[in-house]
Amino acid sequence: MDDVVVAGGGREPRTLEPPRAVRPGASPPAYDDDVVRLFFGASVLWGVVGMLVGVTIALQLAWWPANLGLPYTTFGRLRPLHTNAVIFAFTGNICFTGIYYSLQRLLKVPMWSRTLSRLHFWGWQAVIVAAAVTLPLGLTQSKEYAELIWPIDVLIAVVWVVFAVNFFGTIATRKVKHLYVAIWFYMSFVITIPILHIVNSLAVPATLTRSYPVFAGLTDALVQWWYGHNAVGFFLTTPLLGLMYYFLPRAAERPVYSYRLSIVHFWALIFLYIWAGPHHLLYSALPDWAQTLGMVFSLMLLAPSWGGMINGLMTLRGAWDRLRTDAILKFMVVAVSFYGMSTFEGPMMSIRAVNALSHYTNWVIGHVHSGALGWVGMISFAMLYWLAPRLWNTSIARPGWMTTHFWMATIGIVLYTVSMWAAGLTEGLMWRAVDDAGQLKYPNFVEIVHQLDPFYWLRFVGGTLYLLGAVLMLVNFILTIRAAKSRAALAAAPAAA
Ligand code: HEM
Ligand code: HEM
Repeated sequence: MDDVVVAGGGREPRTLEPPRAVRPGASPPAYDDDVVRLFFGASVLWGVVGMLVGVTIALQLAWWPANLGLPYTTFGRLRPLHTNAVIFAFTGNICFTGIYYSLQRLLKVPMWSRTLSRLHFWGWQAVIVAAAVTLPLGLTQSKEYAELIWPIDVLIAVVWVVFAVNFFGTIATRKVKHLYVAIWFYMSFVITIPILHIVNSLAVPATLTRSYPVFAGLTDALVQWWYGHNAVGFFLTTPLLGLMYYFLPRAAERPVYSYRLSIVHFWALIFLYIWAGPHHLLYSALPDWAQTLGMVFSLMLLAPSWGGMINGLMTLRGAWDRLRTDAILKFMVVAVSFYGMSTFEGPMMSIRAVNALSHYTNWVIGHVHSGALGWVGMISFAMLYWLAPRLWNTSIARPGWMTTHFWMATIGIVLYTVSMWAAGLTEGLMWRAVDDAGQLKYPNFVEIVHQLDPFYWLRFVGGTLYLLGAVLMLVNFILTIRAAKSRAALAAAPAAA
């Protein structure tokens, strides 16, 4: 019942028909769902850990004694721990969960190699544990989102090759000719991430924990932000869009609104994304033409991004009434709406005049988390809630808690993003304010920092709400899986007797 078939129909091949997978009489292929369950568990666990570190550093910015006076727990060390945990541990495991589940069903074959699937799972968790040990110890390459020391970088590359071989091996042995659009989005993830990672991490090792990057100065900055921006594009956006194209029609029980639009969305997005990195280096020593190129491509990105958002929202046509009762659809609608909001805000922030105000301020942090909490987090929660009953062959233990989680997360995001936008505008405007004599109105920097105090506390409250929602989800899953296991044990008991 979980197979999705894309069939041609009418002028545009846009019908995503429910089950036509297995011919009557044929037995369904034995999908490897054990690995999906492993990735599922890791996603939930690392999600809670990563968000807990996020809440901790949010508290540290509001109240410095939370640094605890230990080098291991200072903001400078915990911040990269947070970003690595939420991006590579939480989002990474989410993407692998969804990909392993949907790829097998879309192609109607099990994963090409069970062994490679296991190697991928355990290898990726080893990377995460290594990051969790080295970052608090202060071992870092100091490149944002690429902090990990070179031996871990090598491990990431090896694990990714294992994943890629298994992924393309599965595609090669598929039983379905057509590659549904979600798989194209997954492919961009599988191919682009190792290229970005390897090029940006090129370094000459000096000791086991230290190395020298091969790029220097401006080239280093450009390569870093070509990587950094596309890590956002190809880690936090495209794989999750693939998941949206698979799980949204499934949850809404509606065909995807326009299959043609989804293909245009894919090609336009991946063509444009790769050029937009220089918007992180506006007003830097980067040549003017390169900055303009980054700005123009960022502005153009608005079109495919909104095309994707509209396609997602329109897929719900005829199912809007279910929003009142269906918590999974609620999560999905908010996720797609935040995808739209952050991809509107991003291009605006790429305009030089706007960036002059937003850069270095908390506005950027607000933008990041409207994408991260609103888009990445909410689409992930929706997928996990949709998957849990199917993976454990049961129903969610506390269905009402899903709606509670939804509201906690939504209110949390609003508090987080609104407070950071307000903080960003406040500091941006105060930095540039001049008096009648043309002198800086607030030359005392710390005076501006103090103005941000209430916003930092508000963000802490919003973040805590968001975290508690995730903890509620974790407990719900534990209860769900426990109930499923005891039911299975009961069912097996008479047979054993
Ligand atoms: C409970 C939820 C969360 C809280 C309270 C939180 C809090 C924070 C804080 C305080 C910072 C440092 C801001 C600064 O340096 O001024 C930060 C940075 C960051 N967080 Fe989160 N975070 C949360 C969840 C997430 C999630 C789920 C993601 C991604 C999926 C994410 C991605 C990031 C990124 C990419 C940065 C670096 C931003 C930049 O350098 O501009 N966060 N977060
Ligand atoms: C059309 C899409 C988007 C464009 C054009 C865009 C543009 C931008 C711009 C101009 C900045 C600020 C750079 C600076 O002043 O330093 C930025 C920062 C950032 N954006 Fe976006 N954005 C987009 C979508 C997203 C989405 C959907 C997410 C998350 C899922 C996201 C995550 C981030 C992160 C993590 C940063 C902080 C990077 C850093 O400085 O560490 N962006 N983006």
